[in-house]
Amino acid sequence: MKPKILLTGRNGQIGEELERLLPQLGEVVALGRQELDLSNSEEIRRTIREIRPNLIVNAAAYTAVDQAEKEETAANEINSSAVAIMAEEAKKIGASLVHHSTDYVFDGLKGNPYLEDDPTGPINAYGRTKLAGEQAIRASGVPHLIFRTSWVYATRGRNFLRTILRLATQREELRIVRDQIGAPTWSREIADATTKILSQLYGGETSQDSLSGVSGTYHMTAGGVTNWHEFAIAILDEASRASKTAPWFAAATGGNPLITSRVIPITTQEFPTPARRPAYSILSNARLLKTFGFQLPGWRSQLHRTFST
Ligand SMILES: NC(=O)c1ccc[n+]([C@@H]2O[C@H](COP(=O)([O-])OP(=O)(O)OC[C@H]3O[C@@H](n4cnc5c(N)ncnc54)[C@H](OP(=O)(O)O)[C@@H]3O)[C@@H](O)[C@H]2O)c1
Repeated sequence: MKPKILLTGRNGQIGEELERLLPQLGEVVALGRQELDLSNSEEIRRTIREIRPNLIVNAAAYTAVDQAEKEETAANEINSSAVAIMAEEAKKIGASLVHHSTDYVFDGLKGNPYLEDDPTGPINAYGRTKLAGEQAIRASGVPHLIFRTSWVYATRGRNFLRTILRLATQREELRIVRDQIGAPTWSREIADATTKILSQLYGGETSQDSLSGVSGTYHMTAGGVTNWHEFAIAILDEASRASKTAPWFAAATGGNPLITSRVIPITTQEFPTPARRPAYSILSNARLLKTFGFQLPGWRSQLHRTFST
């Protein structure tokens, strides 16, 4: 069966990659904030009822983690209330829901890789709103796939990769947090894995018409373990060897030379932010591997490939 897919958040880091890949599965109606504002519940209901998709892929979210501390209600509207409505409407028309969530649903104290069923305990407003979104999906009874990912970056948008490249054109020394541990994941890999999984479910002769057999929560992050300091050094290392002609690289650096010569490790305490971040964010991808037969590549090779696009 070729599903009709409604994709939200088409202009986001993951959304734009999904918009490119999902058409291999079926007809895709991709909407950005201008076509579907998720703060408008009636608009969400009307859009879903008009399009009547078989599958909703929600790549939209309120992702401004620090801003969410001051705007938890606004963040909750997008990350939880809108998601609850999507789930409810999807259930009514027999559609399934694919949704991306975050390592920030955990408190970061575990010290070894989090499993999907480990107790959650968000330590910031963004994490609370994303957890509420997950819970609304589960409570709705809609067939769903929730993919929790972490430390997402892309060649466009606002993210750590592009911030480091920009700062490296301005400062000889960077001071970067070393005591937060995680797995930086390229948005293209997440979109690619999401599409591969959906192809398994909807492609071929033995296709299903919903996700019910595998419905649930899965961790989907890059392999390996790093910290922001080591990630920054890796970015500069890749940048020093990369072709400087890639349009995204030129856009990130403004075409200016990189002048950073020292990357100093600092502690979270030395770099206070409005939102607290989990100290340890590694998610086990074993369930993804067991269920769908693959895992995402390691964070270092993902980063390397980012520089060859
Ligand atoms: N970024 C990370 O480090 C990270 C980590 C773990 C999990 N995730 C999860 O992964 C998913 C995708 O994240 P991402 O990094 O691709 O996010 P992103 O680049 O910030 O994209 C989010 C998209 O949502 C859209 N959006 C926000 N408010 C909206 C509204 N009211 N109505 C309609 N659209 C709205 C934004 O629209 P505009 O373009 O108009 O602003 C943006 O295009 C999210 O569920 C996020 O929680 C992200």
